[in-house]
Amino acid sequence: MSDLKATVIETTSGFHVEGYEKIEYDFTFLDGVFETQNRQLAQLYERWGRCLAIMDKNIFDIYGSKMQEYFKYHNVELKIHQTMIGEKAKSLETFTQIVDSMTDFGIIRKEPVLVVGGGLVTDVAGFACAAYRRNTNYIRIPTTVIGLIDASVSIKVAVNYGNYKNRLGAYHAPMHTILDFGFLRTLPEAQVRNGFAELIKISSCAHLPTFNLLDKYCEQLISTKFGRAGDNAEVKQAADEINRNGIFEMLKLETPNLHEIGLDRVIAYGHTWSPLHELTPPTPLRHGHAISIDMAYSATLANIRGLLSDEEHRRILKLFSRCGLSMDHELFNEDILAKATAAILKTRDGLLRAAVPSPLGSCKFLNDVTDEEMAAALRRHKALMQEYPRNGAGIEAYVDASDTGYTVNAAVEEPTKEVEANGQKPTEPVVAGAKDGVLRTGLTSELKDLAANGHSNGLPTVQAQT
Ligand SMILES: NC(=O)c1ccc[n+]([C@@H]2O[C@H](COP(=O)([O-])OP(=O)(O)OC[C@H]3O[C@@H](n4cnc5c(N)ncnc54)[C@H](O)[C@@H]3O)[C@@H](O)[C@H]2O)c1
Ligand SMILES: [Zn+2]
Repeated sequence: MSDLKATVIETTSGFHVEGYEKIEYDFTFLDGVFETQNRQLAQLYERWGRCLAIMDKNIFDIYGSKMQEYFKYHNVELKIHQTMIGEKAKSLETFTQIVDSMTDFGIIRKEPVLVVGGGLVTDVAGFACAAYRRNTNYIRIPTTVIGLIDASVSIKVAVNYGNYKNRLGAYHAPMHTILDFGFLRTLPEAQVRNGFAELIKISSCAHLPTFNLLDKYCEQLISTKFGRAGDNAEVKQAADEINRNGIFEMLKLETPNLHEIGLDRVIAYGHTWSPLHELTPPTPLRHGHAISIDMAYSATLANIRGLLSDEEHRRILKLFSRCGLSMDHELFNEDILAKATAAILKTRDGLLRAAVPSPLGSCKFLNDVTDEEMAAALRRHKALMQEYPRNGAGIEAYVDASDTGYTVNAAVEEPTKEVEANGQKPTEPVVAGAKDGVLRTGLTSELKDLAANGHSNGLPTVQAQT
């Protein structure tokens, strides 16, 4: 939500306009967003009496009927557009399908679209809202660790285009973000681990108490999906503290720089060399694993420079190892390092700006690292890796069809219900071939092949971006 205050003055040659836009948006922590006694979401739609939701099909399959009951109970008419967005369908095609649903629904100016799912859905649907009538409101309910602690903390929304990741996008703040960590109980462990890497990033460079908690509860946080699967109150409490502080730190660091004008960014720890090596293996690495290799290597570099003590260096490496994140890869070599350095220098205005923890819990930026120093640090890092389980390799480190194409989660069944709440008949499906009144987008024929044959790699030509 924004509010612009601007002045116009005459100059000798024309006019000068100066404006300040107020940006405000809220985050609410709420486990059980679709529990009928929790009125927070319904209240946001009361005034409209209806809601268009854009949501991930896997989320619909698990939580769809609960959500329908919720809106019915609160007397809000619900229409759902389901998406099946893998990284390859983070595209303009998927974007326009969402736009079509907004038109069919007849979204009214200022009426917020509800977006429910991981970073892929919130990015694409958020961008559709940014573009629709140049500015349409939306409310986000992220459902992955990445979504909850990273993607939905920022106001960046985007689609991939022309082989480049997030090439078309916008800065478009939602009205409201509801943070329901309860969704994590059904999130596959590999996706939990992937998001865990971003929490190590923020805590090791900005918030030592959070790092200490990640260190203390590492294995339990992953196996209990941040305390949401199972019944361990102590782990859940630690998880809540970690998530609250992690998000708060991210907001404090990034909100003065919402439009990314400043380039010295603490949250770019792990994102210096990773954009290239993420995509170097024949099957790309998961983002969390790629940034963990970068973070572990950067920590070794900082240690050699005397910026990080031996003890803190080892603590960081051990944490990555314990949670099954990658710290090295055979293709992470001097050649890739040099190419990645050249690429990031272009993005960062000619300076390396490599964030490193120094000391643990705070951050320094390195600009004067020579090629020789980088290569020597890499040799040292690879030697150290011999001392760790799997020689520093990660668990489930590579993307699979759930990241690139779309995997319908095995444990859940196809929905048979119609999607309209309030007992109303569904309208005609917009997407040709939709059989059950549920609008589905995102699965192109190419992706259907990808998902069907289980091929794990869909992204060799897409360039990553920090
Ligand atoms: N805007 C930003 O600042 C920002 C920041 C980080 C990442 N991103 C973007 O986020 C995207 C990655 O998002 P992601 O990691 O959240 O992945 P995702 O949205 O693809 O979700 C991962 C998988 O988990 C499934 N899933 C989601 N929630 C679930 C749940 N609660 N239970 C069971 N299954 C569930 C999905 O169907 C999918 O198969 C990338 O495209 C990246 O560029 C954006
Ligand atoms: Zn990242």
